[in-house]
Amino acid sequence: MTRESVPGEARVALVPELVGKLRAAGYEVVVQTGAGARALISDEAYRSAGASVTVNPLEDAVLVLSVQPLEREIREVLRPGTTTLSFFPHGRSSAETEARRTGKLTTFGMEYVPRISRAQSMDALSSQALVAGYRGAIVAASRLRQFLPLNMTAAGTVPPAQVLVLGAGVAGLQAIATCKRLGAVVKGYDVRVAAAEEIRSMGAVAIDLGLPSLEGAGGYAREMTEERAVLQRTLLAPHVAAADALITTAAVPGRQAPLLVTADMVAAMKPGSVVIDLAAESGGNVEGATPGNVAQIACASDTGSVLLWGGANVPSQMPAPASRLYASNVVNVIMLMTRDDAFQPDFDDEIVSGMCVTHAGKVLRQ
Ligand SMILES: NC(=O)c1ccc[n+]([C@@H]2O[C@H](COP(=O)([O-])OP(=O)(O)OC[C@H]3O[C@@H](n4cnc5c(N)ncnc54)[C@H](O)[C@@H]3O)[C@@H](O)[C@H]2O)c1
Repeated sequence: MTRESVPGEARVALVPELVGKLRAAGYEVVVQTGAGARALISDEAYRSAGASVTVNPLEDAVLVLSVQPLEREIREVLRPGTTTLSFFPHGRSSAETEARRTGKLTTFGMEYVPRISRAQSMDALSSQALVAGYRGAIVAASRLRQFLPLNMTAAGTVPPAQVLVLGAGVAGLQAIATCKRLGAVVKGYDVRVAAAEEIRSMGAVAIDLGLPSLEGAGGYAREMTEERAVLQRTLLAPHVAAADALITTAAVPGRQAPLLVTADMVAAMKPGSVVIDLAAESGGNVEGATPGNVAQIACASDTGSVLLWGGANVPSQMPAPASRLYASNVVNVIMLMTRDDAFQPDFDDEIVSGMCVTHAGKVLRQ
């Protein structure tokens, strides 16, 4: 297991608690020195769990685990036939995929685990979205300079904060649940039919804009037409203006994130409101949101401003729990691919074939 080399990546692909499970399945576990440091896991913790810790664990590796795809210099050290298991996002350059093909590496992408019941324990997109949704809610709560719950005191009543969550998939539902636990009044909106019931099951109000649902393949959302997008924004505008905190999480697989909130809609919010865009890295749900950036947007009708926070690798902002969940997904994938005490992926299995990016000199997905 390697130390992550991408700047800002604090997660790690294996945690000490899971070393024993790999060893019991017949694997020798080798961890690169300092790999867990940014997730607050010491080399000693890995050693105590039965792993060996070395500066260069790559040359003899059969299987290399990481969160981010391995960079070229690291890949070049690997022997042909080595397998890598990491996120390998859509749109990763075809040059890199080609290099993996010609380098005869077998590459599995954790985001391609099929969303089927049997694969739930391997679903890293969901586990990391859960962390992002929680973190988004906590950032909103900490940046909002007011109470989230109703406070009835001898000095008078302080009303609760109003939170609006757009996009109620894994991240959005977690943001809703977290804001509810903190006592806010929460509303949610999503284009999928099933989402309304899920929003309500979290104790929030499901907004009905009276628009047709946009359900696509595999239970995911479809892309909006421009006409629908304009109408949806118009209908959402009063809900956005009434919110003290807005958290957006909307995504459409393989596409740029839909623009749900314009700069004018942000400027129409009350001074001191907070906007958290968890989709900033994939194009943004909120106009003007950029990953890793915090901006103050002047209010249109008042003095004061709205804080606009663009998420950048949000799961990595909670590296210890995010690593624990990701590592558990990874180890469950390895267990699926282990037969007779050896790493032997069965390419006839739909989970294995669904995740495979390159194998035996072929590119299986781009
Ligand atoms: N193993 C499983 O069976 C499994 C695991 C995880 C998720 N799921 C399901 O997969 C689906 C997608 O979950 P996800 O969190 O990965 O989604 P996602 O990250 O692709 O999108 C987040 C949410 O944004 C919503 N959205 C898209 N366009 C929108 C728009 N214009 N306006 C408002 N909302 C919009 C989507 O409907 C989705 O709920 C859900 O149905 C979820 O329940 C299934």
